[in-house]
Amino acid sequence: MKDKMVLAYSGGLDTSVAIKWLKEKYKCEIIAFTVNIGTEKKDLSFIEKKAVKLGALKCVVADATEEFVNDYVFPAIQANLLYEGYNLHTALGRPLMAKLMVEVARQEGATMIAHGCTGKGNDQVRFDVSTIALAPELKIIAPARDWGMTREETIEYAKKHNIPVPITVASPYSIDENIWGRAIECGVLEDPWKEPPEDVFQFTKPVAEAPDEPEYVQIGFEKGIPVSLNGKKLGGVRLIKQLHETAGKHGIGRVDHIENRLVGIKSREIYEAPAGTVIIAAHQALEEMTLSKDQLRYKQKVTIDYADLVYNGLWFSGLRRDLAAYVASTQQFVTGTVRVKLFKGNCMVVGRKSPYSLYSFNLATYDKGDTFDPKDSASFIRLWGLPVKTQAQVQGFGGLKGKKK
Ligand code: ARG
Repeated sequence: MKDKMVLAYSGGLDTSVAIKWLKEKYKCEIIAFTVNIGTEKKDLSFIEKKAVKLGALKCVVADATEEFVNDYVFPAIQANLLYEGYNLHTALGRPLMAKLMVEVARQEGATMIAHGCTGKGNDQVRFDVSTIALAPELKIIAPARDWGMTREETIEYAKKHNIPVPITVASPYSIDENIWGRAIECGVLEDPWKEPPEDVFQFTKPVAEAPDEPEYVQIGFEKGIPVSLNGKKLGGVRLIKQLHETAGKHGIGRVDHIENRLVGIKSREIYEAPAGTVIIAAHQALEEMTLSKDQLRYKQKVTIDYADLVYNGLWFSGLRRDLAAYVASTQQFVTGTVRVKLFKGNCMVVGRKSPYSLYSFNLATYDKGDTFDPKDSASFIRLWGLPVKTQAQVQGFGGLKGKKK
């Protein structure tokens, strides 16, 4: 009996060519695996048939959108995970895909796992490291890293072997999308001076076409997780999809960014994450109200490390588990509602409330009802400034040294 290999199959050119190429090179059976984590336009039954037609033993299809949102996106929201300022989404999807592939490999008795990542990106790292963590016994193959064919040569190979070249190949862009966001690179975008043409965007309208009236949305959170939209309880998948539409219509969530990849390359990438932009802004606003200053400061530091770790493919690591537990603990009082104004590409938090709010009107007000005693301030400031005064008296500052006693 031949060995079996599970191939992450997207239906695109590279993974279609890979079915044929891997079968020949490794003399194995291919089990294609295709998963939906919120890509609306993916026609899974078409992809399934195509894989079998191209020579796969079978194609296993899964919808993991719910699992993706609950186990990957929600923890990312609680942590406000941003990498170099943009919303992580591809980096969150890869470990889940790897986990599902490992499950299929075990069910099918496969000894190898393959994916279509190139040798220049982050995704190869995320797939490989996740697989190593979950199933060190599986051999990992990345054909596009090994075959050394250029884009044109891959198309030639496809034509020679009667592999249909999808029309999307005509598109010069490399796109990755899931329910949490969309990333677009290559083509004209490789010139960092060129403005992204409008056709790269799909989730968001250009600001010029956004409505002339602002729109307000209210997002309800429980323990840092979004649970309602405009007062209506919604599951994560529906909430994100609805907000995607609304915020996308107002042109919110576009990012044009030069980023630092793990493999040392700077790359220019365009992102669209309308729902993610609004949810993270709202979540941060609620944290401002419900966390102490120390908690907020500390959490911000953790967030940077956490985002790097996820970006760098270490989702299945002990440290990631520890950080997630820390973040979950910070969220126990992050419950409440945030009002956001969406207008012409901007999302502005304009209201927030929480039963656990640390904001005290009576302490903050300059009007009637003030309970803050300013006399306390004067004594406090004398103590606060004491070390500064001592040091200045002895050591002075620059030209002022020794002038005053
Ligand atoms: N740069 C992003 C990341 O490393 C997205 C990678 C996939 N992008 C793409 N256009 N295919 O997470």
